[in-house]
Amino acid sequence: MKQLLKTLTETFSPSGYEDEIRKVITKEVKALADEVRVDALGNLIVRKKPSIGSKDARRIMIAAHMDEIGVMVTHVDENGFVRFTSIGGVYSRTLVGGHVRFANGISGVIGLEPTNAPNEIPPISKMFIDVGAISKKTCPVKTGDVASFERTFLDLGDRVVAKSMDDRIGCLVAIEALRALKSTPHDVYFVFTTQEEVGTHGAQTSAFGINPDLGFSIDVTGWGDTPGQRDFDVALGKGPAIKIRDGGMLSDARIVDWMIRTAEKAKLPYQREVLLGGTTDARAMQLVHGGVPVGCISIPCRYVHTPSEMVDFNDVKNSVKLIVSMLSNPVSI
Ligand code: CO
Ligand code: ZN
Repeated sequence: MKQLLKTLTETFSPSGYEDEIRKVITKEVKALADEVRVDALGNLIVRKKPSIGSKDARRIMIAAHMDEIGVMVTHVDENGFVRFTSIGGVYSRTLVGGHVRFANGISGVIGLEPTNAPNEIPPISKMFIDVGAISKKTCPVKTGDVASFERTFLDLGDRVVAKSMDDRIGCLVAIEALRALKSTPHDVYFVFTTQEEVGTHGAQTSAFGINPDLGFSIDVTGWGDTPGQRDFDVALGKGPAIKIRDGGMLSDARIVDWMIRTAEKAKLPYQREVLLGGTTDARAMQLVHGGVPVGCISIPCRYVHTPSEMVDFNDVKNSVKLIVSMLSNPVSI
C-alpha cells in the first residue's frame, strides 16, 4: 500500500491536467471493477454492481479527487524568469526555496525579488520560477504551462509525508476499499474526480451524471495536534474523522449516523469533525438534481496544502475498513 501511495503522490497532475494520475489509477482498478469509464470532464468512474439477487440496492457515489494544487505561468520575462499564479489554494509562505516541475519534465526553483521587509511573507507576485533559462526565447516553458510541487515521498514509519497527499490518500483509500470489497448489496460508483481544488467541478458533473441516492467524499482534513494549533478536535492516529460540517457543507445527519454506527459496530476508532474552513467534493454532490444526502470521511492530515503533507497510516487502514463495512450491508437512508 505504501508503494502505491508513493507512486500516487509522486505523479504529476494539477487541476485540469489529470491524465497521468488517471492512468495510474485506471491500471489499479481495471481488474477490480464491473465498469470503468471516463466522462467529459475527465472524471474516472469505477462501478461495482450489486451482487445478484440483492434487494434494496442503493446507488452510492464515493468521490476522491485526483487533482492537486499547483501553479500556472502568467508570463516569461525577457531574461527567462517565469512569473506565475496559483492553481487552487497555494500559500506563498510554502513556496520560497521550493522546487516545481512542469508537465514537460522541466524543473525550476522559486526565487524572490529583494525586499525591505525580509521577515514578511511576500506575495506570489514578488516571486518567480528560475528554470535555468537565460532569455524568453530559449525558456522551455511558456504562458499557461502548469507545474506541481516537486517533493519525494518520505516514510517515517506510521507517519508518511508527501506532496499531494491531498487527495491521493483519498484515492488510495478508495482503491483499497474497492480491492477489499468482495461483494456489495449496492450499486457503488467510486469516482476519481477532477478539478476539486479549483471549485469541486468534476464532482458536480459526475454526481449529476450518476444521480446517486446517497454518497460521500474521501478527502483530507486539517489537524489540531501540533504546537499552537487551536479549536480543531482532530488528531493524527486517532482514526478516520467523520465530518459533521466544514466551511462549505453540513453533512446529512443520517449519513453521519450511518458512519458512526458502522464504526462502532466494527470496533473501529473514529473522530467527530467540525472544520471551520475548506470543503470537499461532497458539497457539490449534495446540490445536484433534487439534492443528495452526503457526508465525508476525512483522513487527518498535517500541513495541508504545503509540499509536505503528513498522514498516519493507521488512519488510512481504518478508513478502508470503515468504508468496506459501510458498503457491505444494507442502508436504511
Ligand atoms: Co485541497
Ligand atoms: Zn482535497
